[in-house]
Amino acid sequence: MLEQYFYIEPETARELLRQVQSMTPQSRGIDRRAFLIGGYAVLATERLKLRNVDVRDDGLEHLNAVIRTLAELHARGVRAVPLLGWCCEEDSPDGRGYLFAQRAKGSELYDDAAICPLEVWTQGRGEVYLRSDLDAGEYILARTAAIADVPQEHFDRFIADILAVLERDILIDFHGKSNFFYDEREGFQLIDLDAHTDWYYGLTRERIDSREAAALGGFVPCHFAEGTQAFAAVALAERAMLALDAAERRRLARDNLRIFEKCRLAMLRCGIGEAAVAAALRRLRIFGREE
Ligand SMILES: Nc1ncnc2c1ncn2[C@@H]1O[C@H](COP(=O)(O)OP(=O)(O)O)[C@@H](O)[C@H]1O
Ligand SMILES: [Mg+2]
Repeated sequence: MLEQYFYIEPETARELLRQVQSMTPQSRGIDRRAFLIGGYAVLATERLKLRNVDVRDDGLEHLNAVIRTLAELHARGVRAVPLLGWCCEEDSPDGRGYLFAQRAKGSELYDDAAICPLEVWTQGRGEVYLRSDLDAGEYILARTAAIADVPQEHFDRFIADILAVLERDILIDFHGKSNFFYDEREGFQLIDLDAHTDWYYGLTRERIDSREAAALGGFVPCHFAEGTQAFAAVALAERAMLALDAAERRRLARDNLRIFEKCRLAMLRCGIGEAAVAAALRRLRIFGREE
């Protein structure tokens, strides 16, 4: 077993691993299962040696660089949840192992497992890898109303933090609304940060413009309407939304627009210009917003 424990005692990490063996994961993403123990999140993965889906990182040097950068950002007060270390089975081809992270405070901005039955990408699919016991309609109504009440200052810091992370060429997966957490005291936090951008790895010539990317991704607290150009797969599917009655859909739209306005104001306050926001909005359809 290869081990690299930057910001966690090896004994603590090994004790967490012992506990994980007899636990069932609290949540899962595309390829990771999360075990939450005290202030830690232990993430089991089969693909520790792959960055950004298919960039090989056999020596895990890129991962180590991400971990150091996240620690620097965190020390500056950026709400990027730090990774503490990792362990990996040496001869597993793609890296079977575990990532250790600080546990994010609060809960997912939106639980993807709960809302995915309403999203475009799950329509007509019998079996979806994310499952939840929550009722999608009830959940989205309650959670959207709660996020709409989040103070503007937390939105402002969220956008500032997104910019700070992007400036360091760390990739943020805005498709997953579960890659963001919200806590009343802590505000928004970013998780699922374990890779750099394509440009950093030499796969594209153009470096991402942080402000353009933040102008698009910073609307992640909003729900998108079917037909949106960016984030098309995670838009709310019109057919699925018939699970809500007309009054509920209106309420969702109203709350979503309150979130939209807070996101937009935060962008302007963070120096993302009107033009960049307008350009992003040409690629986005916001649920409930008239064209
Ligand atoms: N640091 C953390 N604190 C709390 N929960 C976490 C943390 N990291 C992951 N999780 C939970 O596990 C889920 C999947 O983890 P994630 O890192 O997003 O993996 P994936 O790449 O599979 O999406 C998250 O959406 C979240 O619910
Ligand atoms: Mg994720």
